Amino acid sequence: QDTRDIRLAVIPGDGIGTEVVAEGLKVLDAAGIKLDTTGYDLGAKRYHETGETLPDAVLSELRAYDAILLGAVGDPSVPPGVLERDLLLKLRFELDHYVNLRPVKLFPGVQTPLGGVSSEDIDMVVVREGTEGPYAGAGGVLRKGTPHEVATQESLNTAYGVERVVRYAFEKAKSRPRRKLTLVHKTNVLTYAGDLWARVTDRVATEFPEVTVDYCHVDAASMFFVNQPQRFDVIVTDNLFGDILTDIGAAIAGGIGLAASGNVNPDRTAPSMFEPVHGSAPDIAGQGKADPTATILSVAMLLDHLGLAKDAARIEQAVADDLLERRETAATRSTSEIGDHIAARVAG
Ligand code: NAI
Ligand code: MG
Repeated sequence: QDTRDIRLAVIPGDGIGTEVVAEGLKVLDAAGIKLDTTGYDLGAKRYHETGETLPDAVLSELRAYDAILLGAVGDPSVPPGVLERDLLLKLRFELDHYVNLRPVKLFPGVQTPLGGVSSEDIDMVVVREGTEGPYAGAGGVLRKGTPHEVATQESLNTAYGVERVVRYAFEKAKSRPRRKLTLVHKTNVLTYAGDLWARVTDRVATEFPEVTVDYCHVDAASMFFVNQPQRFDVIVTDNLFGDILTDIGAAIAGGIGLAASGNVNPDRTAPSMFEPVHGSAPDIAGQGKADPTATILSVAMLLDHLGLAKDAARIEQAVADDLLERRETAATRSTSEIGDHIAARVAG
């Protein structure tokens, strides 16, 4: 198989999801990637029409693709948790996306709310665990709706699950110039889970003598994201901490319209799924106001995952150049205009 032939499942989803995904596909096309795409109408609309979120037949079909591109799902008309748990989290869990990869990188020319930092100061990758922790769905409720209601939401951490994500993070750190890995947790309070994460990290560290290892409590890490982002190169952390930290990461690196992510199955037993960090943004949906850059950067991560590092780098460079130009011309562009500009750079 020619590796520049990609069988891609596309889940545009809801709201701006459909708008940004179109631009991601436009850029893949401009890069000369031969795409065989199949669209899946999962999301709010399908849920309202059929009550389905992720039918088993669709899930097994999805397993056959090289990768999945997702826009965003969610709509105010759907009760909270339905699409998040039964569609998004189900995909991540079933396809064993144990690495949730979220680069936090300030491109030159992009405005950050932080004072006195430049693009060299913010260049990290957060490796968030994707299949365990408090998101595993363990817990329950007793005496619901009464004054005596009891709700538990347990954090699941397995030695196997922690080790595989920590090992991935060490490999990632080893491949980057700074070779630094920071474990972020809350070992002083979450003593059982924290202790497991710390011991596993210490043990795996002995296999990576070239990587410098650091540790930060999650509250301190949140502060350092804002006042010392230079501290971080690769971060490894649990599902919930990583979710929250990467929103701070998006904020300091130019906003949610630029934040890309990959739900990665490094063992390649199922396709990985790439998506912008943002949601369906019902407040701006259908108006051509959404920035598709996060999706375009996610598409670059997708190519990188499939071994097309050169094509990925070309797209990332096109985005970097376009961001600089956007700053210089102070242009207000629509979703498709941004896609057109980046696609033209990629093609040219
Ligand atoms: P959101 O990310 O959709 O929007 C937050 C704010 O950022 C809004 O003001 C929105 O206009 C703005 N924004 C988001 N993406 C943008 C873009 N590309 N360009 C310009 N501005 C952008 O988060 P919110 O409002 O909390 O959630 C809306 C819906 O999306 C909910 O149903 C939520 O559950 C869902 N959601 C889905 C996610 C996913 O599919 N992975 C992730 C986060 C939320
Ligand atoms: Mg989030």
